[in-house]
Amino acid sequence: MITKEVLESISPEARDKAKAFLKMRFRYTNHDHPFVAQLVRFAYTELLERIAQGIDTGHSAEQPIPSETLGAPSIGKGCSMGTLLTQRINLVSLPQLVVQLQEAMHSPKASASDIAKIISNDVKLTASLLRLVNSPLYGLVTKIETVSRAVALIGLRPLASLAMGATLISGLNKQLQGLALEEFWLHSIACASIAKRLAEQTGRAEPERYFVDGLLHDIGRLFILGAFPDESESVQNFAIGKGISMHAAETTVFGFSHVDVGASILAKWNLSPATTAAVRFHHSPEEAPEQGIDDHHIIHLADAMAKALGYHARGDHFVPRVSMLSWNKLALPLPQLEETIADLHLEIETVAQIMLHSSF
Ligand SMILES: [Fe+2]
Ligand SMILES: [Fe+2]
Repeated sequence: MITKEVLESISPEARDKAKAFLKMRFRYTNHDHPFVAQLVRFAYTELLERIAQGIDTGHSAEQPIPSETLGAPSIGKGCSMGTLLTQRINLVSLPQLVVQLQEAMHSPKASASDIAKIISNDVKLTASLLRLVNSPLYGLVTKIETVSRAVALIGLRPLASLAMGATLISGLNKQLQGLALEEFWLHSIACASIAKRLAEQTGRAEPERYFVDGLLHDIGRLFILGAFPDESESVQNFAIGKGISMHAAETTVFGFSHVDVGASILAKWNLSPATTAAVRFHHSPEEAPEQGIDDHHIIHLADAMAKALGYHARGDHFVPRVSMLSWNKLALPLPQLEETIADLHLEIETVAQIMLHSSF
């Protein structure tokens, strides 16, 4: 809840600009959805607080006016997804450490100490993971100094998932050097943090899994960006100019989108079916077959919330329409939603600092 003092410290002109800014951000979403209505309130409060703190939110900048008649750039013609996957992006491989962790986690013979050993063998990864485990993300009282202690406290699978996520970010950033990925990862980390919080608040088992789902949900964009570094700029400009999502822009230009590319890559890498489903269906949760997993519903909501709070990747400025099915599946009482955003910016900035600025 924003205080009266904070509100009064902001000029009516700045408040009007903030409202216009958010009107554009929420232009294409379904305002009659209870989750969206709450997101609008959160976003307005957050924006005013940030303005009062003197943080540049970009709300004063001129907003692009979407043009319904803008034509799509013709750059993806002749490149099917199969061609893209086999010819253009086979340069991106799964980091060796992720392969080892995957194998160990799927092997009935591998023990917790085997997995802790694989992680500990990588000194830089261990250092980054311990910083993460000791960060506000976990709120642990005692300092954790070894991987085996981290395993005992937060669990083997969560730690292995975090190790895989951090290694993937680092490995992919190295292979896609030169591309501006900061905004992309900030959006992914925001989605990951929100997904984990939603999972925790609703008592899901292994909330860490949702963190990894969130980290990877848009990974297909990286591969498209890697395959078409120059042309991707045109697709992003097309999305902004037309006022559509990157998912829709990619589908128009290429005939497939980052969800198809991402899910194919994750399946090839043998990541869990829950994570693969989260990637494939995060823009269309109603299309997912009922499988007893709900990762795609949580990632769909977390993705919208991340965008509502200003964590959007380049070209993807608009809060999407939100599925009622996903909201019903989450089953979170509306008043509890506010707890999800407490100290969220601090957490996102801490995790980003550790994950984006470590190289291992
Ligand atoms: Fe997406
Ligand atoms: Fe996203």
